[in-house]
Amino acid sequence: MKERKYHKNKIPHHLAIILDGNGRWAKKKGLPRTSGHKMGAENIIRIVKHCQELGVKVLTLYCFSTENFKRPQPEVDYLMNLPIEYYQQYKEKVDFQKLPYKVVHVGKREQLKEELLVLIDEVEAKTNNNEGLLVNVAFNYGFYDELKRSLEKMNKAGDNDFSSENLISYLDVKTPVDLLIRTSGELRLSNFLLYQLAYSELYFTKKYWPAFKKRDLLRAFKSYQKRKRRYGGL
Ligand code: IPE
Ligand code: IPE
Ligand code: MG
Repeated sequence: MKERKYHKNKIPHHLAIILDGNGRWAKKKGLPRTSGHKMGAENIIRIVKHCQELGVKVLTLYCFSTENFKRPQPEVDYLMNLPIEYYQQYKEKVDFQKLPYKVVHVGKREQLKEELLVLIDEVEAKTNNNEGLLVNVAFNYGFYDELKRSLEKMNKAGDNDFSSENLISYLDVKTPVDLLIRTSGELRLSNFLLYQLAYSELYFTKKYWPAFKKRDLLRAFKSYQKRKRRYGGL
C-alpha cells in the first residue's frame, strides 16, 4: 500500500494496541515462544517510532496483562525480565530527556520486581517533560484492576462525583481511545481499557505482532479514516 493513500491530517489521536501472537509467530518459525517475545519487544520500538513520526499523540500498548501471570513460570519470568533488559540497554544508548516521547507505566505495580520499578520510575521522571508522543506501557495491566484502584482512590479522597469526566480522571489511562488494533486474529478485548474503548473504532488483523509492520499500521489508519464515527448521533 502506498503511503499517500492515507490522510496525514486524520491520524487517530489515541491509538491502543493489543500486541498479540508472539507465541504463534515463534511456533510458526520453529522457535521457542521466548524468541517471539524478544522479536515482539523489538517491534514495539519500531512501531513507537512510526507512531511518533506519523503524528499519533497517545499510544497505549498492552504488553502484559494481570491474567498473564497464569502462564508457566519460565515464560512469566522471561516476560518480567524483558522490560528490565530493554530499559537498561536504552539507558546506556540514549538520553531519555532528549527522546520525542513521554513514557508512563500503566497497570498494577504490585508483583513487579523492585529492579523494574526503579527503572520505570527513572524513565517516567526523565521523560516527564518531553514533548511529543505519550507512550502508555500497559504492563501488569487489566481493566478490572485499574477500575478497582481508581475507585479506591476516589473513595479515599471522599469524592462522590461519578460523572464520566471525573471517573476517567482516576483511571491510569485518561484519554478515550480513537483506534484499537489487535493483532493475531483474536477478536476479543481481554480486559484491556474497557472504559476508554467505549466509542473506539476497532481494527483486527491476522498478522502476528512481531510481523506487524509500518505498512500494516498504515492499513489500519486507512480503515479508520473511512469510518464514520457517530457517538450515538446521526
Ligand atoms: C502476546 O503474545 C504477548 C503477551 C501476551 C505477553 P502471546 O504470548 O499471547 O502470543 P500467542 O497469543 O500465544 O501467540
Ligand atoms: C492479551 O493477550 C494480553 C496482551 C496482549 C498483553 P493474551 O494472549 O493474554 O489474551 P487471551 O488470553 O488470548 O485472551
Ligand atoms: Mg496471546
